[in-house]
Order: sequence, then structure tokens, then C-alpha cells
Amino acid sequence: MTGLIIYFERLLKKFYFFLILKINFFEGFKILNLNILIKLIREDMKETYMVIKEDKILLKIRKNSDKKYIDLGERGRFCVHNKLNDLTGKEWIKFTKSWFILRPKQRDEEVILHPAKFPEVLIKKFILFFTKKGDRVLDPMAGTGTVNYVCEKFGRIGYSIELEKKYYEIGKKRSNQHFFLGDCRNIKNFDIPPIDYIITSPPYWDSLKRSSIRQKERKKKGLDTEYSSKDKNFENIEIYDDFLKELVIFYKNLKSLLKKKGYLTIIVNNIYKNSRLYPLAFDLASKLGKYYILKDEQIWCQDDKPLIPLGVNSAYVGNRHHIYCLIFRNGI
Ligand SMILES: C[S@@+](CC[C@H](N)C(=O)[O-])C[C@H]1O[C@@H](n2cnc3c(N)ncnc32)[C@H](O)[C@@H]1O
Repeated sequence: MTGLIIYFERLLKKFYFFLILKINFFEGFKILNLNILIKLIREDMKETYMVIKEDKILLKIRKNSDKKYIDLGERGRFCVHNKLNDLTGKEWIKFTKSWFILRPKQRDEEVILHPAKFPEVLIKKFILFFTKKGDRVLDPMAGTGTVNYVCEKFGRIGYSIELEKKYYEIGKKRSNQHFFLGDCRNIKNFDIPPIDYIITSPPYWDSLKRSSIRQKERKKKGLDTEYSSKDKNFENIEIYDDFLKELVIFYKNLKSLLKKKGYLTIIVNNIYKNSRLYPLAFDLASKLGKYYILKDEQIWCQDDKPLIPLGVNSAYVGNRHHIYCLIFRNGI
């Protein structure tokens, strides 16, 4: 083998393209990056062969071996070819379970005003799976900016939009990421570059406006029980079908901003209103499936919510203690 390499080294000086072709025939070697060949250097007899030009590595030929994994101890082994995230195989598999339970800590005073803020642990779970450090993440209906906050903590670049000034002001203070005030339907007016991953959650139609035990308690404490009365807020679209239609158009238009093969996660629920279920999560999955590839739904099981006696001895009413996280991909 050594003789062969020396032979190719000599040959290379004259016929470098010939070498590329020949190397492809070496069993157990893989070309990692192709570029102009100037000089072949045998760096390590067993492992790696590099092509360099003025100290810059142009091509690496590496023997397929266990070296493609980095041992991260308890975390497991990280594959250097991982295209999607910075997780080990062990962490990757753990994420793929179709349901999960979270026990988020009580919300801090500063963000309690918002009626439906998501826990940081939920956003962290998804961002760490669907991005690498340095990737750009968008939440176009950002509330108090949890996505930006998590991005800052974990070395991603956050882009957020929120319609309501009061939540925007809170969100702005929580991180130094990009935060825009306005209607997300006008996303083209904001200076947002191509995005690697979108994670977001719409208002669940008008469900906050309905009186529930939780809403009554919030009212007593002087906290918000709806986002706003502004026409532009999706929660104020009166008819379910119109609401769904507008939401689908909006998410469909996000496609042009999301990089090819990038993922979109929508955290959403079906809505129980006037004794019937409006299948918002299912409708979005089905309608957006025409524009994105629907990959999965993960179910966030909220086992820390108390059971309330609803319809007892009369008719079925569910204690709805779960939320859907719909996972789409922009192309196969
Ligand atoms: C479910 S909450 C998002 C919560 C957020 N993910 C968090 O963790 O804080 C939905 C948000 O969408 C915002 N929203 C509704 N219509 C909007 C619009 N047209 N443009 C931008 N934001 C909008 C609401 O004001 C609300 O804060």
C-alpha cells in the first residue's frame, strides 16, 4: 500500500485528475472534499491523506474507521458526519420518541403576563435537535421571545416577530437576538436572512377568550387572558375556517425563507368549543402537508395538570392534557 501511495504521489505532480479517479477505487478510503489537487501528503500512514496548497487543506482522504466518532463520555458518541445537529447518537434516539413529559419550573415574574408562554425546556429540546450551533432560528409569533432566549443560551441566532408591543418589550429585554414588532404576515418587510429552522405556535384560535378556571384565576391577578383586541391578531378571526385558511397561507409563505430540507415545528392543539372539537392540529397537518413533508407529530403530555370534573354524569367532555408538536420538512 505504501508503495502505491508513493507511486501516486509522484504521478500526482503531473496528472492530478487521474489520481482522484484512482483514489475512488481504493477500498476503505473515502473522499471527503473535492478540489484542485496540487500536492498529496501522507499525514498518517493509516488514517488520513490530505491535499494541500499553500498550507490550506483542499482535499482530505480518510480511511473509513472508528475515527468518524468522537467519544463524549456519558453523552455517547458524536458522529463527525452528523448533518443536522450537535447531538450524539444516544441523544438523537432519545428525541425521536413520539411523546414526552416535561416538568417546567414556575414562570418568572417578568414573563407571566403572557397567557400562553412556552417553557424554555420545550423549545430547547427542539432547537438542540433541529439545529447546529450558529444556525438561524425563527419564531414569527414569538410572544415574550422564548425562542430568542433559548437561542442565545445555546449559541444559535434567533429571529422573532410579535404583534403585541407589551410582549415584544418583555421579549426584547430577555436576549440580544433579533426581535421585530409587527404583523408576521408582513415578514418580507423585516430584515430576515434564510432560516435553518422555524419553531412557532399560533394562537389556538379564540380559545383564550373562553372562560376557564385558569382564566378566572389569571383575571383575579390582573394578568392577560387574551393577547389583544387587534384585528391583525390571528386569535380575533371570528370564523374557524377563515382562521385556518389565513394560518395555512401564512405558514405556506414561510417556505421561501426556510432553507431546503430545513424543518418547521408547529406547537398547536385541537380546540374544544361549544361542545365540539375543532381539529386545528389535524387540519394544519393535513393542509400544510401539501407544501411541506409532514414527518411526525410528537405529543407533549401534560401530566402535571389537575383533573377537572367536566360533564360528569351527563356527557363526555375530555380533560385535554396534551399538545401536538407537528414536525414538517421543507423537501425530502
Ligand atoms: C401561542 S403564543 C406564542 C408563545 C411563544 N411561543 C412563547 O413561548 O412565548 C402566540 C403569539 O402570537 C402572537 N400573534 C398573533 N397574531 C400575530 C400576528 N399577526 N403577527 C405576529 N404575532 C402574532 C400573539 O400575540 C401571541 O403572543
